[in-house]
Amino acid sequence: MILIKTAADLSSLLASQRASGARIGFVPTMGALHPGHLKLVGHSKKNSDATVVSIFVNPTQFNDPNDYTRYPITLEKDIYLLEQAGCDILFLPAIEEIYPEGTSLEEPYALGYLENLLEGKYRPGHFQGVCQVVHRLLELVQPSLLFMGQKDYQQCMVVQQLIRLKQLPVALRIIPTLRETSGLALSSRNLRLSGKDKEAATAIYRSLQMIRNELRPGNLEPLITRAVAEIRAAGFEQIDYVSIASAQDLSEVAEWDGHSPLVALVAAFISGVRLIDNLPLTETGSPVG
Ligand code: PAF
Repeated sequence: MILIKTAADLSSLLASQRASGARIGFVPTMGALHPGHLKLVGHSKKNSDATVVSIFVNPTQFNDPNDYTRYPITLEKDIYLLEQAGCDILFLPAIEEIYPEGTSLEEPYALGYLENLLEGKYRPGHFQGVCQVVHRLLELVQPSLLFMGQKDYQQCMVVQQLIRLKQLPVALRIIPTLRETSGLALSSRNLRLSGKDKEAATAIYRSLQMIRNELRPGNLEPLITRAVAEIRAAGFEQIDYVSIASAQDLSEVAEWDGHSPLVALVAAFISGVRLIDNLPLTETGSPVG
């Protein structure tokens, strides 16, 4: 694995790879890697000639400065895991390499309604920061394929919108969420949970499954109420949302017609750690790729 720290070195290495016809796969991360990230690397390896992984904890996407300063960093282990997984190039930039002109955004990305609901509502500015960094990384790496995890369902939709807006020549591949056997979705933030918290946090997946199992056409409010109660009873101190939404545009669905594709999404805090998860409720319920 080649470790690269500057944008200039990355661009020249990848230019020579592209010139020899290599199809580049890209997995952007913020580090603190877990098997979910490595699954993305595995998909990239299968479908590309060279796999690039970036590790960069992007300050512009953290609406809560404490969340930024407490974001787990496990660099040595990450490098080891990526080498084992067969990553070809690790891009490990300093902030000046990503934002040579500073972090302020000249013109906001036109994300429309996606910015005002669910994650966008509870984390103002978050998706602008995600677009800022992903746009910069895509310009540097110029991959054919971009691999992202379905756990960040709305982020996948936002990145798809970024690709459309900027007409970037890359295809987004969305990879299903990897879970512990308990059902807890793998997340870098799980590193900040105690064993007891992790056990309690399985209530999120249980409540998502309950929604999927109990889903019937008609009023969906009682399912939301039950899920909220189950998550609260497990010890979550704050629930930002439990939503049953259109799998295509994330608009809230209060009455289900029995046909339209749905996804259930949750964001909640346990011991100060914010967890998100989602579960497609119907066959076609995954973010449009
Ligand atoms: O999902 C993440 O880890 C981050 O939001 C991403 C896509 C690497 C951008 O910083």
